[in-house]
Amino acid sequence: MRPYVIIFSTITLDGRLASKTGFSELSCKWDKMRQNKLRAEVDAIVIGANTVRIDNPSLKVKWFTNNSPIRVIVSSSLKLDPSLRIFQIPPKTVVYTSISHDTSAEKELSERGVDVIVMDGVCNIITDLYERYGVRRVMIEGGGRLNWSVIKEGCVDEIRVTISNKIFGRGVSFAEGEGFERDEFNRFEIASFKKCECEKEIHLIFKKT
Ligand SMILES: NC(=O)c1ccc[n+]([C@@H]2O[C@H](COP(=O)([O-])OP(=O)(O)OC[C@H]3O[C@@H](n4cnc5c(N)ncnc54)[C@H](OP(=O)(O)O)[C@@H]3O)[C@@H](O)[C@H]2O)c1
Repeated sequence: MRPYVIIFSTITLDGRLASKTGFSELSCKWDKMRQNKLRAEVDAIVIGANTVRIDNPSLKVKWFTNNSPIRVIVSSSLKLDPSLRIFQIPPKTVVYTSISHDTSAEKELSERGVDVIVMDGVCNIITDLYERYGVRRVMIEGGGRLNWSVIKEGCVDEIRVTISNKIFGRGVSFAEGEGFERDEFNRFEIASFKKCECEKEIHLIFKKT
């Protein structure tokens, strides 16, 4: 058994999460509310280590509820500064890393109350969240490499994207990986679409058929 998995991202017209400099401020205030509403409805938020290093997010739910989903970082290297905001506990933070990780940060993270778990494969990690922490709904908040991993491994149930009116040209793509050869990823259908209140974005929800 594994949790229900939802990717939530805000992208440019040309499918970028971030520009070539790492700039990624794409969301309007209504999009931030959508993001927070979904955070309030899930049991865990999963994020890639680069996004943690670049954006230094707290991933706390700001509105809608007192629910505090656990925060999960995927980092094969474990090159993460323990002073980052996401390591201010509570809420609970878990880092999944690989066997060959850098052990220097591990002790300090554990002392702060962070669970450090060695495991490979994002879908294995998502299944472990179900078994170890009772997680039933997961929100994946990017970035591109994490999105690609979960798409490639095939454990996504829903994709929510907000498409903004910006174009970055180069940068981090929504799914940043080696890519498919053809249309292997084709089992998703539009469940809803809406023009954002800001009039400059579209919010789309795709669900697995
Ligand atoms: N617009 C948006 O909605 C949005 C959302 C999120 C992020 N962003 C932007 O996206 C950019 C970061 O994206 P990114 O693609 O560079 O990085 P990312 O996906 O955030 O993180 C990549 C890192 O996560 C770890 N990782 C990912 N998949 C893994 C797997 N299958 N197994 C083990 N470890 C894995 C690795 O960590 P280690 O390097 O530690 O081994 C990898 O280097 C930032 O600029 C951020 O601002 C935008």
